[in-house]
Amino acid sequence: MAMDLPVEAFNPTHRMMVYLEYSSSSMSLDGVPRASDHPVGHVPDDVAFEMKGRVLAGRYEVGDQVARGGMAVVYSGVHLGIGRRIAFKFLLPRYSVLPAARRRFRNEARIASSLRCSSVVSFFDTGRTDEGILYHVMEFLDGRDLGHILRDAREIPVDWAVRVTIQALWALKAVHSSGVVHRDLKPGNLFLAEQPGGGWMVKIVDFGLSRPGPLHEVEPAVTNPGSVVGTPHYLAPEQAMEQETVDARADLYSIGVVLYRMLARRFPFEGRGYTDVILAKVRGGAVPVDTVRPDLPPGLADVVMRAMARDPVDRHPDAGAFVQALMPYA
Ligand SMILES: Nc1ncnc2c1ncn2[C@@H]1O[C@H](COP(=O)(O)OP(=O)(O)O)[C@@H](O)[C@H]1O
Ligand SMILES: [Mg+2]
Repeated sequence: MAMDLPVEAFNPTHRMMVYLEYSSSSMSLDGVPRASDHPVGHVPDDVAFEMKGRVLAGRYEVGDQVARGGMAVVYSGVHLGIGRRIAFKFLLPRYSVLPAARRRFRNEARIASSLRCSSVVSFFDTGRTDEGILYHVMEFLDGRDLGHILRDAREIPVDWAVRVTIQALWALKAVHSSGVVHRDLKPGNLFLAEQPGGGWMVKIVDFGLSRPGPLHEVEPAVTNPGSVVGTPHYLAPEQAMEQETVDARADLYSIGVVLYRMLARRFPFEGRGYTDVILAKVRGGAVPVDTVRPDLPPGLADVVMRAMARDPVDRHPDAGAFVQALMPYA
């Protein structure tokens, strides 16, 4: 049964904001565009976008489309040389013409690759099609993202929700130890990847909005000062105010909302649009999760609500501490 609130209900607005950010930052921050920023040839529109059957870079064959995010389309494929299953992530044509979006997309692969953590999706290669569409080549993940699972689930068992959250937090610990802040954690970016021997593990995908760490050699800042990125429901209030200065605790807030959502089947703050949700967050006072789901074991609601504290200093200090607090409930 579908859940009452679609996971990505606010995605169009969010992506529109990102689009605006890209447009403006490409004017003010990017300096002289590099030749490679400009696509060559005819860029297909998003509706006509179809890559199936193409062979890219002479060795990667594109298979079926498996998912579509806000800015990218993901396809399955095969590395012809070694027969390995792969996934492609193509930046949608609409974004492929925006220099700042292209930079951010290229940075994604660099940031994620540097993490070298099995709980982060692996990137193998990156390239561009003859039309100028950027793509990444990644490990192919079997399984489903948490967004899909939430949409189909009736009720999520408490211990299952806690285990997923702990796995996501372990992954996040590795991400944060490199100084990276993901900044777009939500169910659609947490993938439950089936493992060859059975079972599954959480892998973090989509570093498209991430803040790089101090040692990352990425292209220059692509976020406009004062601009906002992120999905409003999962966004920490301080991230809604000022994107650039957020630290790892903004990710912990987002994970807190993911857990809240799994347990309560609703969001801690509801609103009719982007601004409503953000204003509700800034005002504070989320409905405690045990009010919505009274059968929670004692103490768990406090752990969840602490992750979502309005002031970052009141949250769990880091991903490891959040894991410790959740352990008794797994
Ligand atoms: N390597 C992969 N293998 C299989 N599916 C993937 C892979 N990476 C992403 N996906 C799926 O594609 C969706 C969109 O990918 P994502 O990187 O989140 O793009 P976007 O930036 O557009 O949100 C994800 O929510 C996930 O379901
Ligand atoms: Mg995504």
